[in-house]
Amino acid sequence: MHRPGLQSVANGLLLLVLGLSALGATFLEADAAVGWRIGASVAIALGAVFLIAGLVVMRRSSSPAAARLQFTPDHDAVLTIHRLDKSFGGLKVIDNVSFSVRRGSRTALIGPNGAGKTTVFNLMTGVYPVDGGTIALDGMDITAIPAKDRVIQGVSRSFQNIRLMPHLSTTENVMLGQHARARRIGAQLFPIGLTRKNRWVAEAEAALAVAGLGTYPGQVVADLPYGIQKRIEVVRALISEPKLLLLDEPAAGLNTAETEELQALLRSLSERGITLLVVEHNMHFVRSLCEHIVVLNFGRKIFEGTPDAVHQDSAVLGAYLGGEAVGGARGAA
Ligand SMILES: Nc1ncnc2c1ncn2[C@@H]1O[C@H](COP(=O)(O)OP(=O)(O)O)[C@@H](O)[C@H]1O
Ligand SMILES: [Mg+2]
Repeated sequence: MHRPGLQSVANGLLLLVLGLSALGATFLEADAAVGWRIGASVAIALGAVFLIAGLVVMRRSSSPAAARLQFTPDHDAVLTIHRLDKSFGGLKVIDNVSFSVRRGSRTALIGPNGAGKTTVFNLMTGVYPVDGGTIALDGMDITAIPAKDRVIQGVSRSFQNIRLMPHLSTTENVMLGQHARARRIGAQLFPIGLTRKNRWVAEAEAALAVAGLGTYPGQVVADLPYGIQKRIEVVRALISEPKLLLLDEPAAGLNTAETEELQALLRSLSERGITLLVVEHNMHFVRSLCEHIVVLNFGRKIFEGTPDAVHQDSAVLGAYLGGEAVGGARGAA
């Protein structure tokens, strides 16, 4: 990730150096045009603005609300939740849940409908505050930091129900995911590159191409098949350059071919070093993609282990997988 504010500081320094050089040159030249002096002074003033703004952003981002942890997280973990609690209207929906997501892993979070899987994602991403417990990202306590700062720190997600803007194009939808990076002041001061194409558009199109969606950039999303829309959502989540990608039922509603394409995309992300935490009912999908599984039931963790072990665990069989024909899962929507 680029350091927020750094680009603005660099731009500011460049303008200052150019402005001061130009101003100095006008004093060496006795009959220099006044226009040059004005131009140089404007460059110096602009440079100072960029520099100060950049330094402010860098200072703010280097001291996020993230705090030191009160417990020692697993060294290999990119994300750890520790004794998490959440209630809605007096009903406890997350009850003392702890687990870690190992860096670089493909981990699944499964369980019957209403088990609390989406709520765990909502707590991790800051949609809701926790009632108790800790969320740690890379050893830093992010439990209380705002949702937008968690995206900047490297947590991104796709949603259980597609949340694309149906009337916008594929590229425009992906660009919506750029807001976390566009918040950086340098990006805001220079939104339009000097090249023919806006750099944000070019980046969104490149990300689509990498995901095998390069043929759809200008198409309105509502006109595209459901499976393509699901993959566009993943690309939008990726554009913030996450360390950890949370996927909530990415294969729901996809046919076999679409599911395989999605799985290929997720594998390629994993090979690029992005850690995946996937909520999914399709156990074929889970078994072939993930090496580690956490099972929730009524807001409690009832199992954690390998895909092979999950099918032999009596608590999991009783709560969730017992009546399953391997392709689906009992309780799936
Ligand atoms: N915003 C909310 N307000 C009230 N209850 C909620 C809210 N979000 C989730 N719940 C409840 O929390 C429980 C867990 O829901 P959820 O996390 O969506 O389950 P899952 O994703 O495992 O199907 C359910 O009983 C659900 O009704
Ligand atoms: Mg859910």
